[in-house]
Amino acid sequence: MSLVNHYDAIIIGGGASGLFCAGLAGQRGLRVLVLDSSNKVGKKILMSGGGRCNFTNLYVTPDNYLCQNPHFPKSALSSYNQWQFIELVERYQIPYHERKHGELFCDDSAKDILNMLLAECELGQVAIKTRCTINTVSHQSEQGFNLVTSLGSFSAKSLVVASGGLSIPTMGATGFGYELAQQFGHSLLPRTAGLVPFTFSDHIKGISERLSGLAVDVELSTANTSFRENVLFTHRGLSGPVVLQLSNYWQPGALITMNLLPDSDIAALLLNYKSQHAKSLLRNLLSQHLAKALVAELQTLFWPQYADTAMAEIPDAVLKTVAENLSAWQLKPSGTEGYRTAEVTLGGVNTDELSSKTMASKNQPGLFFIGEVVDVTGHLGGFNFQWAWASAYAAAQYL
Ligand code: FDA
Repeated sequence: MSLVNHYDAIIIGGGASGLFCAGLAGQRGLRVLVLDSSNKVGKKILMSGGGRCNFTNLYVTPDNYLCQNPHFPKSALSSYNQWQFIELVERYQIPYHERKHGELFCDDSAKDILNMLLAECELGQVAIKTRCTINTVSHQSEQGFNLVTSLGSFSAKSLVVASGGLSIPTMGATGFGYELAQQFGHSLLPRTAGLVPFTFSDHIKGISERLSGLAVDVELSTANTSFRENVLFTHRGLSGPVVLQLSNYWQPGALITMNLLPDSDIAALLLNYKSQHAKSLLRNLLSQHLAKALVAELQTLFWPQYADTAMAEIPDAVLKTVAENLSAWQLKPSGTEGYRTAEVTLGGVNTDELSSKTMASKNQPGLFFIGEVVDVTGHLGGFNFQWAWASAYAAAQYL
C-alpha cells in the first residue's frame, strides 16, 4: 500500500454534502480525498435557486422532510441547524436575502456558496480529484476501503458516499451511490423524481400551452396534502412552486385538486354577484379575480352554455356547480417531467440501516451515506441543502 494514496477518509461526490463534509473532516486533522466523476465539483450548487442558491431556510423543521422513518432526520438537523450554516455564510461575508417563507438566497451568485465550501476544503487541506471514474470499491479489515479508479488506486479507513440523487443526469448525476449501498448489503427505497413539474396528455395539455407563462396563486392538493403557492402554466404542463411541492406527495394515477380562489367562498361570491350585478356576464366578474385568458378556458370547461347569459339568468344550481369546479378543479397528471428536470430524488438508501446520529452504515463499519443519496427529501425552499449540510456535519464528526 502506497502511503501517498492512503487517506483517513475518501468522499465520493464533490457536491453540497461531500464538499462540506470534506472541509469539516479536514479541519479536524484528517487526511481527506474527494473523488468526483464530473469535470467540475458543485455543479448543482451553481444551478440551484436560479443561480442564486437557496442555501437554507429560516424555518427548518423535521416536518419539512419526507423519509420512510420521519424521526430519522431529527438528530442531524438539530446537531447542525440553519443558524449554524447562516453563521458560516456570514463569516464569509456572503451577501444574502430572505425571499418568501424564510428562503435564504445569495444576493449575487451561487458561486459564493461553492467558493466558501472550497475555501473550507482548502483550510482542511482536502485533496479534490475530478473526472474520476470509480471502477471498484472493496473493503479489507486491516486496510479499510480500496478504490480502483481511472486515476489510480486509493485507500482509506472511512468511505463517505455523497454522490447525490438521479436528477439532472446531464449535470453528472449517477446511480453509483445506490449501487454501492447495495454492494454493502443496504436496501433501497423506491426512487422517483421529486420537486418536478406535472405533464398531461388530456385537454389540460392544450390549456397549459395556451396559458403558458401565466402564474396563479392557488391551493393544490392530493390525497391528504395541500400547498398554497403559485402554479405556473407551461408549454409542457404545470410547474411553479406549488406543483413542485405537491409532486413529492403525488402518486402516479392520482388526481390533483386546484382551488383557484383559496381565499374566497366562491359559491357565496357568485351568488352575491348575481344579486348585485344581474346584467353582467360571469366571465367579466371572474376576470376581476383571475386572468382573462384563464377565465376564458374555464368558461369553455365549466359554463359554455351560459357564456353569453346575464348573471340573473343563470340558475343558482349552475353557479354552485361552477363554484365547486373553481374551488376543486380536478386534474389528472399523466406523469412528471422526470429526472430530466426534477430537483431531487425521492427514496434512496434505507435509513433503517444507518445511524441517525452519525450517518454510518449499520452493515459496514467505516461506511457513511450523506445528502440526497439517503432516503431523506426536503420540501422546496432550501430544505434539501440544509439536509446536505446537516448530514455532512453529522458524518464529519465520526470519520
Ligand atoms: P450533489 O448532487 O450536490 O452532489 C453529488 C456529486 O456526486 C456531484 O458532484 C456528482 O458529480 C458526483 N457524483 C455522482 N456520481 C458519481 C460517481 N459515480 N463517482 C464520483 N462522483 C459522482 N436545494 C435547495 O435546498 N435549494 C435550492 O435552491 C435548490 N435548487 C436546485 C435546483 C436544481 C436545478 C436542482 C437539480 C436541485 C436543486 N436543489 C436545491 C437540490 C440540491 O441541489 C440537492 O439536494 C443537493 O445538491 C444534494 O447534495 P448532495 O451532496 O447529496 O448531491
